[in-house]
Amino acid sequence: MKLSIIGTGYVGLVTGACFAEVGHDVVCVDNDSAKIRILQFGGIPIYEPGLEELVKKNVAAGRLRFTSSTAEGVENSEVIFIAVATPPLADGSVDLSFIEKVAREIAAAMTHYRIVVDKSTVPVRTGDKVAETIKRYCKARVDFDVVSNPEFLREGFAVEDLMKPDRIVIGVRSQRPVPLMRELYAPFTAPVIVTDINSAELIKHASNSFLALKISYINAISIICDATGANVQEVANGMGMDARIGRRFLDASLGFGGSCFPKDLSAFIKIAEQVGYDFGLLKEVQRVNAEQMNRFVKQITDTLWVLKDKTIGMLGLAFKQNTDDVRMSPAIELCRRLQQEGAILRVHDPRAMEKARAVLKDATYVDDMNEVAEGCDALVVATEWAEFKNLDLERARKALSHPILFDGRNLFDCAEMERLGFVYRSVGRKGLSER
Ligand code: UGA
Repeated sequence: MKLSIIGTGYVGLVTGACFAEVGHDVVCVDNDSAKIRILQFGGIPIYEPGLEELVKKNVAAGRLRFTSSTAEGVENSEVIFIAVATPPLADGSVDLSFIEKVAREIAAAMTHYRIVVDKSTVPVRTGDKVAETIKRYCKARVDFDVVSNPEFLREGFAVEDLMKPDRIVIGVRSQRPVPLMRELYAPFTAPVIVTDINSAELIKHASNSFLALKISYINAISIICDATGANVQEVANGMGMDARIGRRFLDASLGFGGSCFPKDLSAFIKIAEQVGYDFGLLKEVQRVNAEQMNRFVKQITDTLWVLKDKTIGMLGLAFKQNTDDVRMSPAIELCRRLQQEGAILRVHDPRAMEKARAVLKDATYVDDMNEVAEGCDALVVATEWAEFKNLDLERARKALSHPILFDGRNLFDCAEMERLGFVYRSVGRKGLSER
């Protein structure tokens, strides 16, 4: 099938590449011509495991191309995906101006029946607005259908999540686009849920908010664990074996971040408010998340006392592992909080150093994770990169003025760290010496 994807961010680019991989003919469109040039010359503007190979392979096979012309995409495609940004506004609601602009551009370029699919995360009832806009701006007065098809990929695992989705949600106003949408997704062999547009839009916000709630829940449990000497990982393992609960998204941490959960929670609270419901439960999720960061900072200041002029080594800058994305990263926030207290930072991330440099100044960026601890008073783990587990702990212990490690991601084993001579502080787990 012939498709175009408007917006080449994380969702748009990965979706385009995966659709091409299963044999569709895909045009990716973006009004950022500099980005399109990078893509046309074989570059990838983001780091996402497996994406570069996928893009190269499908460009070479002639199934994937890039343009900055929306009209070109619309002319050549039966199905047009909208995957543009929906950033937050100051009051927590969603800025839908990019969606509206793209809807007008699509309408202006439409000369035949088209299916317009919204993949961006949007408030419930946006589909109706998109349909109204297209109708208003389509001079050719052709038929069209608007579909909501939310995306559930995680950064860092985006290709894997897209190629093997848990479910495909298709929200429609009529049955007309359903056969084509099913055909489009047939190669992915995942269960397809066909529903009305409002429900599809809600599925996305409700899912992300629930996952955030799950993390805040285990983070709240981590506080009880800290107070009682229980181990939050063991509690999570025991809870997770109940199939009704599940183990995933029960890793206690210094809090969740990224460009989705914080924004989607605020948006969902606002949406609820607009329909007359005070979503206090989600406000509590936000509060627990903010508190988790405060508690982690306090743990550091309680242990190190005065931070002014102390040197702290930071492992991790990305908001999570396997990505170079530092938007709303808890690691960056932690760096800023420590800098406010006067700490001097030596920082490292396997992928996110370049993007971090733009937002985190006055830190020493260290290329080798094993050199971060040199001359430091303490080491902090802020992102759950698997390679941090291979840190040369013996070398780090010797390099630190006193071997203190704060682990905001529970990557190491408490007993093992104590055996190696570390003062080791993590989230919801106490070592023998602390109990
Ligand atoms: C999230 C959802 O997981 C995706 O399903 C959704 O499609 C996406 O948002 C989106 O709306 O676009 P993402 O933000 O890429 O994906 O990353 P997650 O893996 O969900 O992690 C979010 C944050 O939660 C990270 O800071 C991560 O470190 C933290 N986290 C995650 C925890 O602290 N504990 C956990 O157990 C899991």
